[in-house]
Amino acid sequence: MEVKILPIQEIYNEIANKIVKLVAQKPNAILGLATGGTAVGVYDALVKAYNDKKITFKDVKTFNLDEYYPIEDSNPQSYRYYMNHNLFDKVDIDKNNTHFPSIDNYQKYDELIAIAGGIDFQVLGIGSNGHIAFNEPGTPFDSLTHVVKLAESTIQDNARFFNGDISLVPTQAISMGLKSIMFTKQIVLIATGKNKAKAIKQLMDQEPNPALPASILRSHANVTIYLDPDAASLLC
Ligand code: PGA
Repeated sequence: MEVKILPIQEIYNEIANKIVKLVAQKPNAILGLATGGTAVGVYDALVKAYNDKKITFKDVKTFNLDEYYPIEDSNPQSYRYYMNHNLFDKVDIDKNNTHFPSIDNYQKYDELIAIAGGIDFQVLGIGSNGHIAFNEPGTPFDSLTHVVKLAESTIQDNARFFNGDISLVPTQAISMGLKSIMFTKQIVLIATGKNKAKAIKQLMDQEPNPALPASILRSHANVTIYLDPDAASLLC
């Protein structure tokens, strides 16, 4: 795992540049996308690159990591809505090439990704409890896309997107599994803010173990961890 500590905007610009380069080399690249507060900056930087004519998404395919369940696509809290609003509606991507796991497709989601050629570049965030996608602590390392019961800490963390009302946060989701994520060819994990510092310290200190889902990434051959100074604040 390579670790880079940078100001937030530099993190977003560097990751967007990596995607611009990848798509220049491989116009039909497969991107694995994350939602949440952290990833918005990556999409803003990609929209800017698109407006500057540095990238076209014409032949790009995307697979998102997760989606709440149950939720309608039209619900502003759904991850489909988030992606449309933050990226897809602002660039030239064909929405038929954008995929989300759902109750209808989750048993075939990993196969869909494999048939498309596998994810070339995966964007990941990390939960304050060390989750990646919605793989909560205790998720088996050999998990594929599955239905998840959200951890209490995740529901609390995400209540900020639901007017702070915990009772409005869905309690379930569909998520790519830890094994699904390990199949991706290149991974960038972004952590910003002090509330991620403990999970990042654990990630640096611990051998892979299911109590800290992100620790599986230590066994992946091509991972870069991007930290802002706050998320890196507990590292010596
Ligand atoms: P956040 O979520 O970017 O909203 O903090 C990250 C995550 O839970 O993976």
